[in-house]
Amino acid sequence: MMVVLGIETTCDETGAAVVERPETGPGRILSNIVLSQINEHAAFGGVVPEIAARAHVEALDLIIGRALLDAGKSFGELDGIAAAAGPGLIGGVIVGLTTAKAIALVCEKPLIAVNHLEAHALTARLTDGTPFPYCLFLASGGHTQIVAVLGVGDYARIGTTVDDAIGEAFDKTAKLLGLGYPGGPQVEKEAASGNAGRFVLPRPMHGRPHADFSLSGLKTALRLEAEKVAPLSDTDVRDLCAAFQQAVVDLVADRLRTGLKIFVESYGKPAALVAAGGVAANEAIRRVLHRVAFETGTMLVVPPAELCTDNGAMIAWAGAERLALGFTDTLDTVPHARWPLDTIKRSPPAAKPVMARKGD
Ligand code: KG4
Ligand code: ZN
Repeated sequence: MMVVLGIETTCDETGAAVVERPETGPGRILSNIVLSQINEHAAFGGVVPEIAARAHVEALDLIIGRALLDAGKSFGELDGIAAAAGPGLIGGVIVGLTTAKAIALVCEKPLIAVNHLEAHALTARLTDGTPFPYCLFLASGGHTQIVAVLGVGDYARIGTTVDDAIGEAFDKTAKLLGLGYPGGPQVEKEAASGNAGRFVLPRPMHGRPHADFSLSGLKTALRLEAEKVAPLSDTDVRDLCAAFQQAVVDLVADRLRTGLKIFVESYGKPAALVAAGGVAANEAIRRVLHRVAFETGTMLVVPPAELCTDNGAMIAWAGAERLALGFTDTLDTVPHARWPLDTIKRSPPAAKPVMARKGD
């Protein structure tokens, strides 16, 4: 049994959680505190990195204190301290990782520097104890990937976006249509009462033999359609949102069918199709995931929405998974703005060598 504190500060959510990992099966979330910075960034229509980093500094110690209190644990009772060491907005990553290092140093606990994408990838094991290998569909504000999850620290990318991430496309669509930030939930809400058939939008990459995504053509087509009918009425906005969401749903279905085929050819049948990332909170996307899983006879695992968006529990869990295998990190571990999932092995990319001191 491992009890790990997880810290998440890579974007605009300050998160801390305590998670318990038994020898086998799913984990137990003892606490999971997430403070969203939406209000700090809303006026700017997107995340402002400097504001995000400062907000993490202000909130993180209180959030960690609260996570321990809710879990009924003291620092001394923890087996490890995990923090997201990237990829993400570097200022925020520095805040979380440095805080974790300080706790690890003072409490003499192992530090685990977790890749944020790996944490999304392993969430299905926290919630459902999903065995390896499985096929991951990761769709967030910064990433859109189909990944073969073969083991802890063992990931092979099957498909990725060649331009925008799906969440980013939702956010840009919302901005274009004058909806608030973050865009995904707003677009989903408007789409629910819109007529998807009124505008004809492209499905980029549809039918291609690889499993890559492209979103920028869809975004441009949407802008052109919106310009044609401007000034936009409420009905126009709803119909445009519905048409956009339907196009995304269709291309997700097509790309996943192809991705699953590639998975089976390379690794055999996956134990499950697993969704992760903020976009997996979208009901229309969740429905199409069910359809694709059903068609292909694959089990579907979609963690609850609050564990699909950024949170500390997924970092704690990934930390516990690594700790159980003895993968810990040293206090000279560096934060990473970029850190692709398929480059992870047992530990983060090597830190730049420390400059030799005179006389060394
Ligand atoms: O994983 P996440 O919380 O943060 C990272 O990007 O790592 O994902 C946030 C993204 C945003 O782009 C947001 O607009 C999108 O997920 N999102 C949604 C929904 N909820 C969040 N997109 C579509 N529909 C939603 N309901
Ligand atoms: Zn994320």
